[in-house]
Amino acid sequence: MNKLPILGAMLASITSLPSQAKVEELFKSTCASCHGETLMGAMAPSLVDNTWLTDGTDKALTNAIKNGIANVGMPAFGETLSDEQVRTLVVFIREAGAKVERQKAPKSSLGKVFTTKHQTVTTQKVLTSDGIIWAMDFLPDGSLLYTLRQGELWMMSKNGKKTQVIGIPEVWHNRQGGLLDVYPDPQYSQNGWIYLSFSQAAGKNDNGDEIAFTKIVRGKISDGKWVSEQTLFEAKPENRKNRGWHFGSRFAIQGDYLFFTNGDEGHQNDAQSITTQNGKIHRIFKDGRIPKDNPFYNEKGAQQTIWTYGNRNPQGLTINQTTGDLWSTEHGPRGGDELNLITKGVNYGWPKVTFGMNYNGTPITEHTELPGMQSPIHHWTPSIAVAGINFYTGNVFKNWQGDLFVGSLAKKQLHRLRIENNQVIEDEIILKGLGRIRDVVTAPNGTIYLTINDRNKNESKIISILPAS
Ligand code: HEC
Repeated sequence: MNKLPILGAMLASITSLPSQAKVEELFKSTCASCHGETLMGAMAPSLVDNTWLTDGTDKALTNAIKNGIANVGMPAFGETLSDEQVRTLVVFIREAGAKVERQKAPKSSLGKVFTTKHQTVTTQKVLTSDGIIWAMDFLPDGSLLYTLRQGELWMMSKNGKKTQVIGIPEVWHNRQGGLLDVYPDPQYSQNGWIYLSFSQAAGKNDNGDEIAFTKIVRGKISDGKWVSEQTLFEAKPENRKNRGWHFGSRFAIQGDYLFFTNGDEGHQNDAQSITTQNGKIHRIFKDGRIPKDNPFYNEKGAQQTIWTYGNRNPQGLTINQTTGDLWSTEHGPRGGDELNLITKGVNYGWPKVTFGMNYNGTPITEHTELPGMQSPIHHWTPSIAVAGINFYTGNVFKNWQGDLFVGSLAKKQLHRLRIENNQVIEDEIILKGLGRIRDVVTAPNGTIYLTINDRNKNESKIISILPAS
């Protein structure tokens, strides 16, 4: 195939494109003439059939776009496109490929038996509720606590009776804000503490926009009432500026320490500053005191609760009970959802490093790694909108012992990850299409519970995954 005659005209047209061009326009004007507008192939082969001339990795695609492929007619674009534009094109090719894959895959339906790689299972409805269920967890007596983002905490007893817990704090319910995580203390039987995270109203900013911040409290439930509340964490008054995005926030407890996530609140550059609470994972004592061995405790002006920084919007946090390691998932922008192993004082790179691009298709950076910044253990590009995570610790599914279950909002999928030596060796989609999956827990009876919701109906369900008969 000789494409040379059209090349001159094409290259002339791309040099006039602004460096912040959206990836859709970039592809259309530079690549579509050969690969087709839908990427399904025209004069040049499809980029969405998962058949590659190269080895198909991000590196190989980047290299093909920058340096061309001699003798087959793929021109080099390294002179005319910036590295960050090339990165947006790779994300774009991944998105298109995933879309084709998704259309092929069958949807799950409640109650149907289905076979996965290691287990044959089915699903069952546990409860339905109005609103968005944001989080759930079990108490030692087998009753189930769950939050509704609009600001309600509910408890379902073992025999299925639902009651609302009265007297919890008033929350700021706007955009992504509201009542978020609920987490009973691992020593609940001895101390009765339950931890809540939510967005708290903080008045208005200079432009007259309502603002809020992530607040952490604990309290106890007595006779269906929320009592003995203690405030454990609040953003400093000068750092309260969230207009409704990226609050985080999930809990994990290890010994006396309470970890919680705080998203970048829509101010992405703050994630690289140790003076603010946003874009961080924090560590405090369960009673709110700040441990003196936190990494930035002695740094002048630092937010002393910080454990890690450079985190975008982590909405999954859990401890591997076997190793004691702390893991987190965080929402990337468009592309670049991450699974991270969380270690003290580490910079996870946002927004200096990411596998993603802006939602509108313009570049963020060409860097998918940089010295001094920790790369994710695993990333999803295109984004699945990665949410709650949980290591399976029950004894019903023997072949899933120790696997990490990962919920996805946008792609409505439940992923099962097998991790060995801190590397993901299996990433299997075991459920899809039932709804947006925000939280996952291992139930005391060894089954797996999921929250799913349908945004259009403002309705949620909790369902369980159980062995097929
Ligand atoms: C002049 C035609 C032409 C244009 C324009 C063109 N390509 Fe290609 N491209 C090809 C051909 C031909 C191949 C070889 C594919 C094959 O044989 O499998 C190729 C291969 C590739 C590959 C490697 C695929 C693989 O199988 O490993 C990628 C990635 C790619 N092109 C992306 C792009 C992008 C992004 C653009 C726009 C910036 C673009 N191409 C513009 C013709 C073109």
